[in-house]
Amino acid sequence: MIRVLFVCLGNICRSPMAEAVFQHLVEEAGLSEHIRTDSAGLGGWHAGAKPHRGTRQVLSAKGIRHDWLTARQIVPADFEQFDYIVCMDEENLSELRRIAPQGKKVFRLLDFAPESNEQNVEDPYYTGRFEYVYQLVEAGCSSLLQRIREEHTLQG
Ligand code: 4NP
Repeated sequence: MIRVLFVCLGNICRSPMAEAVFQHLVEEAGLSEHIRTDSAGLGGWHAGAKPHRGTRQVLSAKGIRHDWLTARQIVPADFEQFDYIVCMDEENLSELRRIAPQGKKVFRLLDFAPESNEQNVEDPYYTGRFEYVYQLVEAGCSSLLQRIREEHTLQG
């Protein structure tokens, strides 16, 4: 089993969106038996909450299920249990590197999508641009799944 954890600041806008989009792609590819997906926030302010309304609206508009999502804060065990820890922006990345055990690799979503015009998934909690964030998340998740399939020779 390959385990993928998406991380952002609050776990109510970007990382739950990435979790739902990635899960959707995994199911489409017939890889649910091989890949497990979760998400977490660097902060715990919204623990227990459903995703932000903007995230729920954009996912529903795209026909992507999201009913199971509940915010939680990242815990030390996540660094052992997840193979790919994938965050949204450079601030997340430096905070993750600060708290990760030495030698644990952490990733930024759009580093998997070098054709994207952006390197960071902006925070729609502040910008309100949930549709644009969805486009970035979709591009990143597609490229990430491609990368995982290559690294693990998954046929689906
Ligand atoms: P997220 O957005 O990291 O994409 O979930 C945020 C959500 C909440 C807060 C910040 C960012 N907050 O400060 O409460």
